[in-house]
Amino acid sequence: MYYIYIACGISLLGAWCYHYLTKNNGYWEKKCVPCPKGAVPGFGHFFSMYLMRKNVFQLGEEFYNEMPGRSMVGLYNAGNPTLLVRDPELVKAVLQTSFASFNSNGIEVDPQLDRLGAKNPFFLVGDEWKSSRQLLSLAYTPGKLKYIYESINVVCASFVKYLNNKVNQGNGEFEIELKDLYSKFTAEVAASSAFGVEGHSFSEDEDGTFTKIGKTIFQPTIIKGIKTMLILFVPLVAKVLKARFMPLEVQQLLVKLVKDMIKYRNDHNVQRKDSLQMMIDLKKSGTIDPSTGREYDDETIIGHATTFFIEGYETSSVTLSFFAHLLASHLEIQQRVREEVLTVAEKHNGITYEALQEMTYLEQALYESMRIYPAAGTLFKVCTSNIELQGCDGITCEVEPGTSVMISLAGMQKDPEYWPDPEKFDPDRFSEDNKQARHKFLYIPFGGGPRACIGMRMAMLQIKAAIATTLGNFTLEVSPKTQLPIKLNPFYFMAAAKGGLWVKIKPL
Ligand code: HEM
Repeated sequence: MYYIYIACGISLLGAWCYHYLTKNNGYWEKKCVPCPKGAVPGFGHFFSMYLMRKNVFQLGEEFYNEMPGRSMVGLYNAGNPTLLVRDPELVKAVLQTSFASFNSNGIEVDPQLDRLGAKNPFFLVGDEWKSSRQLLSLAYTPGKLKYIYESINVVCASFVKYLNNKVNQGNGEFEIELKDLYSKFTAEVAASSAFGVEGHSFSEDEDGTFTKIGKTIFQPTIIKGIKTMLILFVPLVAKVLKARFMPLEVQQLLVKLVKDMIKYRNDHNVQRKDSLQMMIDLKKSGTIDPSTGREYDDETIIGHATTFFIEGYETSSVTLSFFAHLLASHLEIQQRVREEVLTVAEKHNGITYEALQEMTYLEQALYESMRIYPAAGTLFKVCTSNIELQGCDGITCEVEPGTSVMISLAGMQKDPEYWPDPEKFDPDRFSEDNKQARHKFLYIPFGGGPRACIGMRMAMLQIKAAIATTLGNFTLEVSPKTQLPIKLNPFYFMAAAKGGLWVKIKPL
């Protein structure tokens, strides 16, 4: 008797799985949206991602390249319809003009498991998203950035000291991995700008607390790869397995760090002009947090401080590492950037905030590096209300609520139709004239529309400061330890080079 129940249970589960995985068969064909061959039953077009052979960055680029000339492409992700939009006008519709129909990033974070991550606007929708976004945006007004730059400048000085020590120990030159190096830089900036403390990131013996936290969360491993994939694409299973973005011990450490800092500032009457102080002041004045309808509390302050740290640390160090690698492999461009840095810095008596605004060729080179290696190669949105999308090629699609929409930055930003010789690193693509001549939504390393990156100006500032400081004092040369051509690590959802990006550094 017992066996009959088990057999029935297994059959029912099997029937449910079969129904779940096949219920949308032929969905795109019925809508007359082109759909590439190769969908694997049960996994759809994303099979190689579930096998951990490719990440969403690489898959998005592949899907984009598979159907040139099409405005949209229909895909299946484990049975769920996913629409890739290729036409920049449709990208604009999804991110900006029809934002009301695509206002969710479609990733839910369980506040019970990720109490700090759950405050990040990236995961929020509706009023909670609006108020959290408004608050965070206040931290990066031009006036605040100028103030933050004082901390960045101090970090730049420690960075040069650290590199000079390494040069001396290495008898005139040394080899280092760029993601590792620039993670120290962004960890230190994030520690001082988000938490108001020194992170000891340039200590000789070991990583500082903030670099350790960053590595624990982000350093690609197969386990983290599986966890992230589940949270992003199979949330039901992630929930059952209680998968968290941020390990519990890291959350506890961050809570303690911020609580101690709030207490220290209150006890010693310390006032700074940073984002932490901005939130402490909101709490002190009894302001109501629109997302909760209650006064600001420590929990919200800790959540937002964590967002500043997490977002400021990883995407910027990914971008810095690829940018420095491209400069190390294009020595003429490296020299041209250096000449600009040295000339402008001489005029301003150093690499000041104002000097960085004048370093236009440095900025062009940075834009070009984010074209080739956007930190986030693929964006996902979820349709929240019915809408018809019309492509420039005559394809029309009624998109239904719940449909996932994919935008491949990596594909679009290297499409030879818009970018001649797309693999070539050519900062002149971003001269003022060339920028004006292009569709605005062809190049979106920071996303676009109402959900565009909040920290864009902060990111540009710290990256330009780090590179200007590096090139103003040292030369970079690609080390033979770098595996060329670069292949991306499939265990990571952003861009990370397999084997790392190694350089030799010498003083000027
Ligand atoms: C080079 C560095 C960075 C890159 C490449 C980057 C890229 C992006 C991208 C592509 C998005 C998604 C935009 C969209 O969906 O349209 C995003 C969102 C976001 N970024 Fe950044 N980012 C960077 C640095 C930062 C920094 C320094 C912060 C500091 C707080 C930050 C905070 C955020 C937040 C909070 C969101 C979510 C916005 C929302 O959903 O409303 N980012 N970023």
